[in-house]
Amino acid sequence: MKKTIQYLQAKKKIEKITAITAYDALFSSLFDSKVDIILVGDSLNMSFGGKEDTLSMGIDEIIYHTKAVCRGAKESFIIADMPFGSYQNSKMAIKNAVSIYKKTSADAIKIEGDIHKAGIISDMVSEGIAVIGHIGLMPQFARSQGGYKIKGKTSQEAKELIDCAIALEKAGACMIVLEGIYTSVATQITENLKIPTIGIGSGINCDGQILVWSDMFGFFEKFKPKFVRKYLEGSTLIQTALQQYVEDVKNGNFPSVQESYQG
Ligand code: KIV
Repeated sequence: MKKTIQYLQAKKKIEKITAITAYDALFSSLFDSKVDIILVGDSLNMSFGGKEDTLSMGIDEIIYHTKAVCRGAKESFIIADMPFGSYQNSKMAIKNAVSIYKKTSADAIKIEGDIHKAGIISDMVSEGIAVIGHIGLMPQFARSQGGYKIKGKTSQEAKELIDCAIALEKAGACMIVLEGIYTSVATQITENLKIPTIGIGSGINCDGQILVWSDMFGFFEKFKPKFVRKYLEGSTLIQTALQQYVEDVKNGNFPSVQESYQG
């Protein structure tokens, strides 16, 4: 069954929403139907592109990867990330989101930003675009904010986050990603909203959870944030298997007769 916004919103307070990132058809087909949401996140720029941050990701790259993810996943709800600089004002945001909608079968678009993005979200929603907000630690703001900082420590910051979430909901956002927010603040946000919150590094009480797949399966080893749980030792498994292949080739153990065409 194809997951819809209505299906996901109805899960609030009933069952947790599960989400993961994917960037290609191979892995989205593995994740499809097991998770509610697949996000084509701009984290791709770091985890697979080898870049220092997400800022250089372009709209054409997101479209390319979203197309691939949509080819592999038929049931999960697919969200495409709007890259840095692609939603500076309503006109630009609508143009780029429409382009994503026309060229892919993404179900929704995610944008990072605080209360100042409420107007843009409202204009996008008026044009028939389903928008997911993303607040708290916003990787696209890492350069301007001097790094990746956990949010909601002071009561002022907590209030700003809660007000922001309420404003984004009023603007028409259908869900909000809460990244790197203290658990107590993420809990208050979740309790104050009718729409679901999807947490990453924001504690247990969000309506759902998302992780970047290369982090949770142990493929990205540059750094491991506190909130990541490794469900697989991916790098070790791949390297061990690769080493075996290299030895087999060198020793003449690969290919075998059965793995060769005889004629
Ligand atoms: O780009 C991404 O993968 C994200 C998640 C961390 C939520 O935005």
